Amino acid sequence: MYKCKFVLIFFLISFPFFSYSNEGATGIIKERMDKFQESKNLMRTINRSLSDNNFNVITKSAEKLNTWANKMHKYFPKGSEASISNKSEASNDIWSKPEDFKKAIKKFEIASAKLIEISKNKSIDDTVSSFREVAASCKGCHKQFRN
Ligand code: HEC
Repeated sequence: MYKCKFVLIFFLISFPFFSYSNEGATGIIKERMDKFQESKNLMRTINRSLSDNNFNVITKSAEKLNTWANKMHKYFPKGSEASISNKSEASNDIWSKPEDFKKAIKKFEIASAKLIEISKNKSIDDTVSSFREVAASCKGCHKQFRN
């Protein structure tokens, strides 16, 4: 019980409720924002499922995150940076340090793939630590590549 509460608190710290709106964002920028909003919802679903021991839901959610990780790179074409579109928060570093951005995506891809496998073993401790790795990969990329 203590552990579940801890997970929730950790999660809320990592993902404060974003209050800005995507109004006006269009095209690929809007599409990736929607994908990221979906990611946030999936992370909340996983967090809730950890308290309910609902491992099947965790596996399914991790699969969706992993699918997104595998195609995320296609959603950042040149010209969609924040310095060009004021609707975006995408840092110029995505395009000036493409190898680092690839690495950040890869971390997310690996962490979500791991969560798919680990959640199938239905160990709460292992699944919690794997979930934290996914959350850290979100945060790590935001720190580097989101304005
Ligand atoms: C490899 C980099 C990377 C990873 C990994 C990543 N993000 Fe992001 N995220 C970004 C960037 C860049 C933006 C800004 C996009 C923009 O505004 O054009 C963003 C924006 C967001 C937004 C705001 C979207 C909006 O509506 O403006 C949310 C919410 C979000 N991410 C959640 C997550 C969650 C949850 C995860 C992990 C499950 C995650 N992100 C993983 C790079 C990443």
